[in-house]
Amino acid sequence: MAYETILCEVDGAIATVTINRPKVLNALNPQVAEELAQAFTALGKDAAVKVIILTGAGDKSFVAGADISAMRDMNPVQARNFSRQLQGVTSLMESLPKPIIAAVNGFALGGGTEIALACDFIYASETAKFGQPEINLGVVPGAGGTQRLSRLVGKSWAKELCLTGDIIDVALAKEIGLVNRVFPVDQLMDAVLKVAKKIASKGRVATRACKELINCGFDLPLNHALLLEAEAFCTCFASPDQREGMGAFLEKRKPDFKGEA
Ligand code: HXC
Repeated sequence: MAYETILCEVDGAIATVTINRPKVLNALNPQVAEELAQAFTALGKDAAVKVIILTGAGDKSFVAGADISAMRDMNPVQARNFSRQLQGVTSLMESLPKPIIAAVNGFALGGGTEIALACDFIYASETAKFGQPEINLGVVPGAGGTQRLSRLVGKSWAKELCLTGDIIDVALAKEIGLVNRVFPVDQLMDAVLKVAKKIASKGRVATRACKELINCGFDLPLNHALLLEAEAFCTCFASPDQREGMGAFLEKRKPDFKGEA
């Protein structure tokens, strides 16, 4: 599919989606949101793709937020629709049956932090910076920031970031649990590819179930979530991957997972 604001490359089991508006630090407008939705939908259906990487073009920015020039003259209805459109993209990312890894290679501000939060985890370069500066523009986060940020790093840090609009460096982002790992700029993509390949070598059924269980179970009462886990554990036994994985361990060889999810 031809996209104008993003790049979508598939190499074996790994797809890389790159938000590609470097002149405006990869700011998100309705077209980017639409193209991201199309790309993630297509990659979700592509049986060959097992893991997706999301990053930003250029060496300065992942995504510096929603496009302020596109938002300035929006009326309230258009603003709501844009918020719901971006929330739709982030919800789609979370519900995709395959992991999405954020490779944050610079500024991840506003909608940039929000779209990274919708990925399954974040690896970042030493130059990465995060923040929810919407308050400086007279608005609140609109692509899930108040909700996903507080669920990930706790209400206090979410409130400090959303209320001050401060931009934080990657060391603090790691300390509060927003970022999993930090790499020198020139090593980030290799590190992300390495972990993507490792995950792609696992079975589809278990990979999908892990993502769904952690995402869906998180907001449920523990006893309900544990029941979901037991049901998913049981479902794994309907896949050839369970026999392959356990058989490979007992035969002291590497597993070759072929199950479909
Ligand atoms: C539109 C943007 C932009 C943005 C940067 N640019 N961020 N354009 N929307 N979010 C443009 C600049 O205008 C400039 O264009 C070019 O990109 C380079 O940026 P500079 O500001 O010159 O770079 P620098 O001085 O290095 O500063 C980088 C920066 C700063 C700190 C990231 O650009 C910045 O503060 N950007 C805005 C960040 C922000 O407030 N994000 C939240 C948006 S609200 P020219 O033409 O001058 O070269 C949001 C809401 C999400 O995300 C929810 C929506 C529903």
